[in-house]
Order: sequence, then C-alpha cells, then structure tokens
Amino acid sequence: MLICRTFGDIRATVAEWRRAGETVVFVPTLGNLHQGHLQLVELGARHGERVVVSIFVNQLQFGKNEDYALYPRTLDADVGKLESVGADALFCPSDTEVYPNGIEHQTTVAVPTMTDILCGATRPGHFTGVTTIVTKLFNIVQPDKAVFGIKDFQQLAVVKRMTQDLCLPIEIIEAPVARADDGLALSSRNGYLNARERAIAPALYRTLLGARESIAGGERNYALLEARAQVALLEAGLRPDYFSVRAAKTLEPAGPADQDLAILAAAWLGRTRLIDNVTIRIAG
Ligand code: PAF
Repeated sequence: MLICRTFGDIRATVAEWRRAGETVVFVPTLGNLHQGHLQLVELGARHGERVVVSIFVNQLQFGKNEDYALYPRTLDADVGKLESVGADALFCPSDTEVYPNGIEHQTTVAVPTMTDILCGATRPGHFTGVTTIVTKLFNIVQPDKAVFGIKDFQQLAVVKRMTQDLCLPIEIIEAPVARADDGLALSSRNGYLNARERAIAPALYRTLLGARESIAGGERNYALLEARAQVALLEAGLRPDYFSVRAAKTLEPAGPADQDLAILAAAWLGRTRLIDNVTIRIAG
C-alpha cells in the first residue's frame, strides 16, 4: 500500500490510475480503524479498481468540549489493517497542509436545515466541519466514487445533499452498518466504554428494532413511539439525547405521507455518546 502524506503525492498517484482508466474509490476516515471501516474498504474495492483511504482527525468537526485531543491516533495499527484488506493507498495529510490559514479562518461548506437537527442540535458546527473537510478531501483526492457508512445516517444524508447541490461528480456509495454479535454498531467510540457500559450499550439497537417492529405492525403515532423508546432507553441505563422517526431523505419528522423512514437515536452512556439507526419502508 502506498502511503501519501502530501496533496502532491496523492494527486499524482490518483491521476496516474485515472489515466490508466481505473476507477478510484475513496474512503474518508478519522483513523482508529475497526472492522466497520475495513468493510467500507472491502465494499469500495467491489466498486472500482483502486481504493484510497484517508486518515485525518479533522479538528473542524469536533466541538470545543468534544474528544478531539483524546481521539485515538493509531496510525501504525491502521496501516496494518488497511494492508490486510488490500487498500491501494493511504492518504494522511498534515494539519498545516489541510488548514494552512488555521481552522478559524477556513472557508466552509454548509448544508442548511438538515444540519442543525438531531446530532446537529447537540453538536453545533459539527456537520459544517464534516462537509468542509469532505469537500476538501474530494478536491484533493478527486475520486470517482466515495464510500460512507449508513451508521452515521445523518452524515450520509448531508453528504449526499451536498454532493447533489454542488454538482460534485462523485458517486456516493452507502455501506451497511457493521455490528458486533450482540447488535452494537461498531464505532471507534465504543473503545471509551467500560465493561458495565459495554454490556448496556446493545439496548440502543434493541430499542430501535422494537420501534421498527411497532411501525411494521401498523403503529403510526410516532410521537408516542418515540416517548416509549426514550423510557426504554432510560430503563436500560442509557441517557437518550434523541430518538426520532424521520423521513429518510430529508430527515424531516416523519408524517403520514412518508414511506421511507429512518429511526435515528443518540444516547449517552457515561461520557460516551452512541448513535445508531434503522430504516423501514412502509406501504402507502
Ligand atoms: O465519518 C467520519 O469518520 C468523518 O466524519 C469523515 C467523513 C471522515 C470526515 O472527517
């Protein structure tokens, strides 16, 4: 696997592949890779000849009181994992090349309305940090396609909207949620959980599945369903941030006319914030 540390390196590498007619698939990450990331790479490899993975801990998307300083930097282990799944190149740029004027002076890309709800309500500025870095990475790497996980459902919806609105010539590939055997969605932040919290954590997915089952069984009072789910989370030992039934594409609160629904949840377990979601299509 090639390791490219500068814009010049990765651009020259990708340009050569594209000149040879190869399709380049991009998997952006924050590093601290787990099996879920490796599945994104494997999915990417099925969509093109070359897979480029980036590792960049993007300060712009972390709030002031969030875990930017604490976020695990595990480059050596990450390189080994990426080699094991056959990634073609790793792009790990420096902060100074990515943000030459400092993050406070960075021009930003902001998607309106979808970004100040759900996770955006408790993480102001987070999605603008994401869309800004994703735009920059797209411009640096210039891939044909990019893979994003459904685990971060709101991020995926926001990136799809941005890609469409800005006419970016990049196909977005959606990767299914990778889960542990007990259902917990794989996340770098699961590493923050102690043994007691880790045992409680799968209740988030179980509660989502329960809500989906209720909707499949005909429940259309989403407010009631959300309230019940919040109680179930509290009883399980989680502190819900939100539990919400939304229109999958727009992330607006689901109404009677919506058929493609996403049930999204975020909850605190000690100092760790977990998110997860399930989707359901209902007949009109
Ligand atoms: O999902 C992530 O890991 C990050 O938000 C991303 C897309 C790599 C942007 O920094």
